[in-house]
Amino acid sequence: MRERKLLVANWKMHLHFKDAFELTQKIVAAVTTTPLQAYPIVLCVPSLYIESVTNLTRYSNLFVGAQNVHHHEEGAFTGEISAGMVSSCGAGYCIIGHSERREYFKETPEMLAAKIHHCLTADLHPIYCVGEKLTHRKANHTFNLLEEQLARVCFMLPEEAFQQIVIAYEPVWAIGTGQSANPDQVQEVHRWIRQQIAKRYSSETAETTTILYGGSIKSGNAEALFRMPDVDGGLVGGSSLIVREFIEIASTLFATVNRRV
Ligand code: PGA
Repeated sequence: MRERKLLVANWKMHLHFKDAFELTQKIVAAVTTTPLQAYPIVLCVPSLYIESVTNLTRYSNLFVGAQNVHHHEEGAFTGEISAGMVSSCGAGYCIIGHSERREYFKETPEMLAAKIHHCLTADLHPIYCVGEKLTHRKANHTFNLLEEQLARVCFMLPEEAFQQIVIAYEPVWAIGTGQSANPDQVQEVHRWIRQQIAKRYSSETAETTTILYGGSIKSGNAEALFRMPDVDGGLVGGSSLIVREFIEIASTLFATVNRRV
């Protein structure tokens, strides 16, 4: 079976160039001298840094990703960046539909479906984010909302294209709050997402899809989250900017690989 484990850093709009350069160097040094060198880790950096981070990580198990692309392939969209552009600078992944973008940039399901299409055409693996707000959870609307977020965006794809996607479940109330969802809540949602994939496509595709959790992952809660059978890794924001934290989270995740096989 394809190994589903994956760790993704989301640097968001943090770090000036010199700091981004140093952070990358430290992460490279930390992963290439340990057993972590056998596992895939993606750094989703500001697009401006993709080429430099790609050069620094070239001979390692680190991959580079963008945090967003425009929903058109190219054209007169001053200030925007396309999937083809980030791919041509060395990225292999792109976060799509992060809740901060849905909220602050009013990204619609149609825009997200178009972004995913352009990512796939440009050989980028989309990391498609879904997740409910606290009001949805309190009103018992979590699964209705997730169903819609899946159906209107990534379930529109044919099976072969869907297989290139990574799903990230990020409850909005857990992002950047220091309060992660509890492992049982996360497992319940991940299991449900895998069942939806099986229904829409096939059990084989469901079993090989990587489903990440994101929202206040720290070294202190990583073990409990990654122990869950349907949690294949993490999308890490704040903790990915601190080398020691990030490496400890990576070690915790990839230690579960050998334990399970
Ligand atoms: P956080 O962010 O780890 O800081 O909560 C996660 C994310 O937004 O992807």
